[in-house]
Amino acid sequence: MSKNKDQSKLWGGRFTEATDAFVERFTASVDFDRRLYQQDIDGSLAHAKMLAKADILSAQELQQIQAGLEAIRQEILDGKFEWSIALEDVHMNIESALTARIGDVGKKLHTGRSRNDQVATDIRLYVRDEIDQIAQLISRLQLALVNVAEAEADTIMPGFTHLQTAQPVSFGHHMMAWYEMLSRDYGRLQDCRKRANLSPLGAAALAGTSYPIDRNFTAEQLGFDGPTRNSLDSVSDRDFAIELASFASLLMTHLSRFSEELVLWTSAQFNFIELPDRFCTGSSIMPQKKNPDVPELVRGKTGRVHGHLISLLTLMKSQPLAYNKDNQEDKEPIFDLVDTVKGCLYAYSEMMPAVICNKDIMYAAAKQGYATATDLADYLVKKGMPFRDAHEVVGKSVAFGIEQKKDLAELTLQELKTFSDLIEEDIFQVLTLEGSISSRDHIGGTAPKQVLSAVQLAKADIANR
Ligand code: ARG
Repeated sequence: MSKNKDQSKLWGGRFTEATDAFVERFTASVDFDRRLYQQDIDGSLAHAKMLAKADILSAQELQQIQAGLEAIRQEILDGKFEWSIALEDVHMNIESALTARIGDVGKKLHTGRSRNDQVATDIRLYVRDEIDQIAQLISRLQLALVNVAEAEADTIMPGFTHLQTAQPVSFGHHMMAWYEMLSRDYGRLQDCRKRANLSPLGAAALAGTSYPIDRNFTAEQLGFDGPTRNSLDSVSDRDFAIELASFASLLMTHLSRFSEELVLWTSAQFNFIELPDRFCTGSSIMPQKKNPDVPELVRGKTGRVHGHLISLLTLMKSQPLAYNKDNQEDKEPIFDLVDTVKGCLYAYSEMMPAVICNKDIMYAAAKQGYATATDLADYLVKKGMPFRDAHEVVGKSVAFGIEQKKDLAELTLQELKTFSDLIEEDIFQVLTLEGSISSRDHIGGTAPKQVLSAVQLAKADIANR
């Protein structure tokens, strides 16, 4: 045996030379997976309790392990714990600190367990807890949107298709469209939680263990809905992380769409809304500038979250069963996507209640661009004209309006009548923006009455979570 063999390695028994210094750094994960220390200690406590219940540990040994692990938790919390690259990862750092603290009893903790089921347990606990925090942040943002929608149900803006003025809509209705996207995101997140919240503990290295373990017990101790069903799958599966990343990618796509609209609306050309100063920054050279940095950054951060989804999918795609070291690469994408999503949701939930609507400007914008042309067509149809003919008549009226530099509502009754005899005095009510939006009075329509009932349903939905 080489004299240079490193005695500190927990797996060093069959090795005859020390790990290459570069390889030691290259393979270590402690710099990032130490973030899992709470989950790792909780998992170890549940495992130790189960070992004692199965008479594999004595009551006294259990008590020593529990006290040792809690002391280590405190030491880490106090920032006094010394993390070591030589001990590779969070699991071996904590286990060897335990043995250093309580002696040989510490070496019994790993009975009937492997780092493979240990890390799978830690990461599932982490994902489950973060899902719950993200869910709360989504609800918080949704509530902010619902409140804006309620206050602005009567505020009229131009609705767009192809970014061209299409039909007038309520600003509140627009906010509720964002709310709907987030509701689906919330549903996907809860769906992901169901599959993530299962306990792989007891799968051991890959085949299970010969000790009389109780997997239901450890699952219950850790707040899991139950144990996973196949040991090989348990140590290698990272679907739950991929699902979280795919939920997060779609959520970020939605936030990015909101961002794009906020950036447009705050521009001098639109000027529909203003963001509070505390959410914007200035330019070092152009004194007039107030930049919508928060929406821009949220839009920009979408890229890294989409990237993490691709990282995780690619990480998994060629792995044979069961555990492979490749899986160590799951952590940084997961951590970063969780941090990113939480930051973006928090920023938006703080910013949205403080948005100022420039109602007059939105209203004036809705009056340009012939936003009520469809209403004129519908008016003619209701008086007996086939829709295609009405479309043609209104097209001609719009062309005339463009020529005269007048909105449809600004044309005289005589002028309008030249396009169809069916047009009478009552057309002017139809051509107002208020008449236009309030006529769309059905489930999902933009009538303020409908927006307010959508707001009530949304409030009840959030309260029921
Ligand atoms: N640090 C490893 C990871 O993150 C822990 C599991 C290591 N297991 C092993 N057999 N090398 O996946």
